[in-house]
Amino acid sequence: MSVVTDQLPDAARIRTLLEPGTPFSRVEVVETTGSTNADLGQRARAGEGEGVALVAMEQTAGRGRLDRQWASPRGASISLSMLLKPRPEFQHWGWLSLLAGMAVSSAIAEVAPDPSRVTLKWPNDVLIGGQKVCGILSERIERPDGARAVVGLGINVSLRRDELPVPTATSLVLEGIPTDQGRVVAGVLNHFARYYAGWQLRGSLREEYEARCSSIGAQLSIMVDGVHTVEGTGRGVDAFGRLQVATARGLQTFAVGDVVHARLG
Ligand code: BTN
Repeated sequence: MSVVTDQLPDAARIRTLLEPGTPFSRVEVVETTGSTNADLGQRARAGEGEGVALVAMEQTAGRGRLDRQWASPRGASISLSMLLKPRPEFQHWGWLSLLAGMAVSSAIAEVAPDPSRVTLKWPNDVLIGGQKVCGILSERIERPDGARAVVGLGINVSLRRDELPVPTATSLVLEGIPTDQGRVVAGVLNHFARYYAGWQLRGSLREEYEARCSSIGAQLSIMVDGVHTVEGTGRGVDAFGRLQVATARGLQTFAVGDVVHARLG
Protein backbone atom coordinates (compact mmCIF):
# COMPACT_ATOMS: atom_id res chain seq x y z
CA MET A 1 0.00 0.00 0.00
CA SER A 2 1.29 3.48 -0.86
CA VAL A 3 1.53 5.61 2.28
CA VAL A 4 2.76 9.20 2.24
CA THR A 5 3.57 9.33 5.94
CA ASP A 6 5.16 12.80 6.06
CA GLN A 7 2.22 14.54 4.41
CA LEU A 8 -0.75 13.31 6.38
CA PRO A 9 -3.25 16.00 7.41
CA ASP A 10 -2.81 17.80 10.71
CA ALA A 11 -5.79 19.67 12.22
CA ALA A 12 -3.79 22.60 13.61
CA ARG A 13 -2.05 23.19 10.28
CA ILE A 14 -5.30 22.94 8.32
CA ARG A 15 -6.84 25.57 10.64
CA THR A 16 -3.96 27.96 9.95
CA LEU A 17 -4.56 27.58 6.20
CA LEU A 18 -8.28 28.44 6.38
CA GLU A 19 -9.34 31.83 5.12
CA PRO A 20 -10.96 34.41 7.42
CA GLY A 21 -14.73 34.07 7.71
CA THR A 22 -14.64 30.30 7.16
CA PRO A 23 -17.74 28.49 8.45
CA PHE A 24 -15.45 25.66 9.62
CA SER A 25 -14.81 26.61 13.23
CA ARG A 26 -14.15 22.98 14.18
CA VAL A 27 -11.58 21.06 12.10
CA GLU A 28 -10.79 17.60 13.39
CA VAL A 29 -8.49 14.85 12.14
CA VAL A 30 -8.80 11.27 13.36
CA GLU A 31 -6.53 8.31 12.68
CA THR A 32 -9.26 5.88 11.81
CA THR A 33 -13.03 5.61 11.88
CA GLY A 34 -15.82 3.66 10.23
CA SER A 35 -17.17 6.54 8.15
CA THR A 36 -16.75 10.29 8.57
CA ASN A 37 -20.26 10.76 7.12
CA ALA A 38 -21.70 8.38 9.72
CA ASP A 39 -19.81 10.16 12.52
CA LEU A 40 -21.09 13.61 11.56
CA GLY A 41 -24.57 12.20 10.96
CA GLN A 42 -24.59 10.97 14.54
CA ARG A 43 -23.38 14.33 15.84
CA ALA A 44 -26.01 16.15 13.75
CA ARG A 45 -28.74 13.93 15.21
CA ALA A 46 -27.44 14.85 18.68
CA GLY A 47 -27.92 18.54 17.80
CA GLU A 48 -24.48 19.73 16.69
CA GLY A 49 -24.69 22.71 14.36
CA GLU A 50 -22.92 23.91 11.25
CA GLY A 51 -19.16 24.21 10.99
CA VAL A 52 -17.47 20.85 11.59
CA ALA A 53 -14.94 19.45 9.12
CA LEU A 54 -13.90 15.91 9.98
CA VAL A 55 -10.96 14.23 8.25
CA ALA A 56 -10.01 10.59 8.68
CA MET A 57 -6.70 9.05 7.65
CA GLU A 58 -8.51 5.73 7.22
CA GLN A 59 -12.14 4.61 6.97
CA THR A 60 -13.06 1.01 7.67
CA ALA A 61 -16.69 1.28 6.53
CA GLY A 62 -16.63 4.15 4.01
CA ARG A 63 -19.98 4.75 2.34
CA GLY A 64 -20.45 5.42 -1.37
CA ARG A 65 -23.52 6.36 -3.37
CA LEU A 66 -26.33 3.82 -3.82
CA ASP A 67 -25.28 1.91 -0.69
CA ARG A 68 -21.94 1.00 -2.22
CA GLN A 69 -18.76 0.73 -0.17
CA TRP A 70 -16.01 3.32 -0.54
CA ALA A 71 -12.42 2.20 -0.03
CA SER A 72 -10.28 4.64 2.01
CA PRO A 73 -6.97 2.90 2.72
CA ARG A 74 -4.81 4.38 5.45
CA GLY A 75 -2.76 7.36 4.35
CA ALA A 76 -3.53 6.84 0.66
CA SER A 77 -6.76 8.80 0.44
CA ILE A 78 -8.49 11.82 1.94
CA SER A 79 -11.83 11.21 3.65
CA LEU A 80 -13.48 14.50 4.56
CA SER A 81 -17.00 15.25 5.77
CA MET A 82 -18.56 18.63 6.48
CA LEU A 83 -21.51 19.29 8.78
CA LEU A 84 -23.75 22.09 7.50
CA LYS A 85 -27.12 23.66 8.24
CA PRO A 86 -28.00 25.18 4.88
CA ARG A 87 -30.53 28.03 4.78
CA PRO A 88 -32.06 27.33 1.30
CA GLU A 89 -35.19 25.18 1.05
CA PHE A 90 -34.62 21.43 0.82
CA GLN A 91 -35.48 21.25 -2.89
CA HIS A 92 -32.28 23.22 -3.55
CA TRP A 93 -30.01 20.89 -1.58
CA GLY A 94 -29.07 18.92 -4.67
CA TRP A 95 -26.59 21.75 -5.10
CA LEU A 96 -24.54 20.66 -2.08
CA SER A 97 -22.85 17.77 -3.91
CA LEU A 98 -22.28 20.00 -6.91
CA LEU A 99 -20.65 22.68 -4.73
CA ALA A 100 -18.41 20.05 -3.16
CA GLY A 101 -17.34 18.87 -6.62
CA MET A 102 -16.59 22.44 -7.63
CA ALA A 103 -14.52 22.94 -4.47
CA VAL A 104 -12.49 19.75 -4.99
CA SER A 105 -11.88 20.50 -8.66
CA SER A 106 -10.79 24.07 -7.84
CA ALA A 107 -8.41 22.88 -5.10
CA ILE A 108 -6.87 20.20 -7.35
CA ALA A 109 -6.67 22.48 -10.41
CA GLU A 110 -4.61 24.96 -8.36
CA VAL A 111 -1.82 22.43 -7.91
CA ALA A 112 -2.21 20.34 -11.08
CA PRO A 113 0.42 20.58 -13.85
CA ASP A 114 -2.43 20.89 -16.37
CA PRO A 115 -5.55 22.38 -14.68
CA SER A 116 -7.61 21.96 -17.86
CA ARG A 117 -7.59 18.16 -17.30
CA VAL A 118 -9.55 18.59 -14.03
CA THR A 119 -13.30 18.45 -14.74
CA LEU A 120 -16.62 17.54 -13.16
CA LYS A 121 -19.00 14.83 -14.21
CA TRP A 122 -22.57 15.47 -13.12
CA PRO A 123 -23.66 14.92 -10.42
CA ASN A 124 -20.79 14.30 -8.12
CA ASP A 125 -17.56 13.00 -9.61
CA VAL A 126 -14.32 14.92 -10.02
CA LEU A 127 -12.23 13.68 -12.93
CA ILE A 128 -8.64 14.13 -14.04
CA GLY A 129 -8.17 13.32 -17.72
CA GLY A 130 -11.59 11.64 -17.66
CA GLN A 131 -10.71 9.30 -14.74
CA LYS A 132 -12.46 9.57 -11.35
CA VAL A 133 -10.28 10.97 -8.54
CA CYS A 134 -13.01 11.94 -6.08
CA GLY A 135 -16.49 10.79 -5.10
CA ILE A 136 -19.04 12.77 -3.10
CA LEU A 137 -21.92 11.67 -0.90
CA SER A 138 -24.36 14.13 0.68
CA GLU A 139 -26.85 13.07 3.34
CA ARG A 140 -29.72 14.87 5.07
CA ILE A 141 -30.30 14.59 8.82
CA GLU A 142 -33.70 15.61 10.23
CA ARG A 143 -33.82 17.58 13.49
CA PRO A 144 -36.67 19.45 15.21
CA ASP A 145 -34.53 22.60 15.18
CA GLY A 146 -33.80 22.33 11.45
CA ALA A 147 -32.30 19.74 9.12
CA ARG A 148 -28.55 19.35 8.74
CA ALA A 149 -26.53 18.20 5.76
CA VAL A 150 -23.46 16.02 5.87
CA VAL A 151 -21.39 16.42 2.72
CA GLY A 152 -18.62 13.82 2.43
CA LEU A 153 -15.89 13.45 -0.13
CA GLY A 154 -13.20 10.93 -0.77
CA ILE A 155 -10.10 11.81 -2.80
CA ASN A 156 -7.68 9.17 -4.08
CA VAL A 157 -4.28 10.56 -3.12
CA SER A 158 -1.47 8.05 -3.44
CA LEU A 159 -3.13 4.88 -4.70
CA ARG A 160 -1.09 3.13 -7.38
CA ARG A 161 -2.79 1.87 -10.51
CA ASP A 162 -3.04 -1.69 -9.16
CA GLU A 163 -4.60 -0.37 -5.93
CA LEU A 164 -7.44 1.57 -7.58
CA PRO A 165 -10.94 0.19 -6.95
CA VAL A 166 -11.87 0.36 -10.66
CA PRO A 167 -9.80 0.87 -13.84
CA THR A 168 -11.70 4.12 -14.57
CA ALA A 169 -10.29 5.74 -11.41
CA THR A 170 -7.07 7.65 -10.84
CA SER A 171 -5.16 9.29 -7.97
CA LEU A 172 -3.27 12.54 -7.42
CA VAL A 173 0.06 10.69 -7.43
CA LEU A 174 -0.71 8.98 -10.73
CA GLU A 175 -1.46 12.40 -12.23
CA GLY A 176 1.79 13.95 -10.98
CA ILE A 177 -0.03 16.23 -8.53
CA PRO A 178 1.59 17.20 -5.18
CA THR A 179 0.04 15.28 -2.32
CA ASP A 180 0.34 17.53 0.70
CA GLN A 181 -2.92 16.31 2.20
CA GLY A 182 -3.30 19.16 4.70
CA ARG A 183 -3.01 21.69 1.90
CA VAL A 184 -5.50 19.81 -0.28
CA VAL A 185 -8.02 19.63 2.60
CA ALA A 186 -7.60 23.34 3.39
CA GLY A 187 -7.96 24.17 -0.31
CA VAL A 188 -11.18 22.17 -0.53
CA LEU A 189 -12.59 23.81 2.62
CA ASN A 190 -11.68 27.31 1.43
CA HIS A 191 -13.20 26.83 -2.01
CA PHE A 192 -16.26 25.13 -0.54
CA ALA A 193 -16.79 28.03 1.89
CA ARG A 194 -16.76 30.47 -1.01
CA TYR A 195 -19.14 28.46 -3.22
CA TYR A 196 -21.43 27.70 -0.26
CA ALA A 197 -21.69 31.40 0.63
CA GLY A 198 -22.45 32.26 -3.02
CA TRP A 199 -25.12 29.56 -3.22
CA GLN A 200 -26.79 30.62 0.05
CA LEU A 201 -26.91 34.17 -1.30
CA ARG A 202 -27.89 33.52 -4.93
CA GLY A 203 -29.53 30.06 -4.77
CA SER A 204 -27.62 28.66 -7.75
CA LEU A 205 -24.12 28.71 -9.22
CA ARG A 206 -25.26 27.47 -12.57
CA GLU A 207 -22.79 29.27 -14.82
CA GLU A 208 -19.72 28.41 -12.75
CA TYR A 209 -20.80 24.78 -12.54
CA GLU A 210 -21.62 24.38 -16.22
CA ALA A 211 -18.32 25.96 -17.26
CA ARG A 212 -16.32 23.09 -15.81
CA CYS A 213 -18.77 20.19 -16.12
CA SER A 214 -17.75 17.74 -18.83
CA SER A 215 -21.32 16.35 -18.95
CA ILE A 216 -22.52 19.57 -20.58
CA GLY A 217 -22.34 19.33 -24.37
CA ALA A 218 -21.37 15.65 -24.16
CA GLN A 219 -23.23 12.57 -25.36
CA LEU A 220 -24.64 10.92 -22.21
CA SER A 221 -26.07 7.58 -21.30
CA ILE A 222 -28.19 8.03 -18.18
CA MET A 223 -29.22 5.00 -16.17
CA VAL A 224 -32.32 6.04 -14.24
CA ASP A 225 -32.81 2.73 -12.44
CA GLY A 226 -31.35 -0.74 -12.78
CA VAL A 227 -33.07 -1.21 -16.16
CA HIS A 228 -33.81 1.98 -18.14
CA THR A 229 -31.22 4.06 -19.93
CA VAL A 230 -31.82 7.43 -21.58
CA GLU A 231 -29.45 8.67 -24.28
CA GLY A 232 -28.99 12.35 -25.05
CA THR A 233 -26.79 15.42 -24.91
CA GLY A 234 -26.12 17.25 -21.64
CA ARG A 235 -27.58 20.75 -21.95
CA GLY A 236 -27.10 22.29 -18.50
CA VAL A 237 -28.26 22.25 -14.88
CA ASP A 238 -31.43 23.91 -13.62
CA ALA A 239 -32.01 26.04 -10.52
CA PHE A 240 -32.16 22.88 -8.37
CA GLY A 241 -28.91 21.43 -9.68
CA ARG A 242 -30.75 18.85 -11.80
CA LEU A 243 -29.24 17.79 -15.12
CA GLN A 244 -31.07 18.78 -18.31
CA VAL A 245 -30.59 16.44 -21.23
CA ALA A 246 -31.73 16.87 -24.83
CA THR A 247 -33.15 13.51 -25.88
CA ALA A 248 -35.08 12.22 -28.90
CA ARG A 249 -38.25 12.82 -26.80
CA GLY A 250 -37.36 16.41 -25.91
CA LEU A 251 -35.62 17.99 -22.94
CA GLN A 252 -35.59 15.71 -19.88
CA THR A 253 -34.52 16.64 -16.35
CA PHE A 254 -32.78 14.30 -13.91
CA ALA A 255 -32.32 14.73 -10.15
CA VAL A 256 -29.25 13.31 -8.38
CA GLY A 257 -31.30 10.83 -6.38
CA ASP A 258 -33.02 9.41 -9.47
CA VAL A 259 -29.90 8.53 -11.43
CA VAL A 260 -27.72 5.44 -11.07
CA HIS A 261 -25.06 6.88 -13.36
CA ALA A 262 -24.68 9.44 -16.13
CA ARG A 263 -21.94 8.02 -18.35
CA LEU A 264 -20.09 10.24 -20.77
CA GLY A 265 -20.52 8.87 -24.28
C1 BTN B 1 -19.27 7.80 -4.45
O1 BTN B 1 -19.87 6.72 -4.42
O2 BTN B 1 -18.70 8.20 -5.46
C2 BTN B 1 -19.25 8.67 -3.21
C3 BTN B 1 -18.13 8.33 -2.28
C4 BTN B 1 -18.06 9.23 -1.04
C5 BTN B 1 -16.95 8.81 -0.09
C6 BTN B 1 -16.75 9.79 1.05
S1 BTN B 1 -15.25 9.49 1.92
C7 BTN B 1 -15.74 10.60 3.19
C8 BTN B 1 -17.21 10.39 3.41
N1 BTN B 1 -17.44 9.32 4.37
C9 BTN B 1 -18.05 8.27 3.82
O3 BTN B 1 -18.35 7.23 4.41
N2 BTN B 1 -18.28 8.50 2.51
C10 BTN B 1 -17.83 9.82 2.11
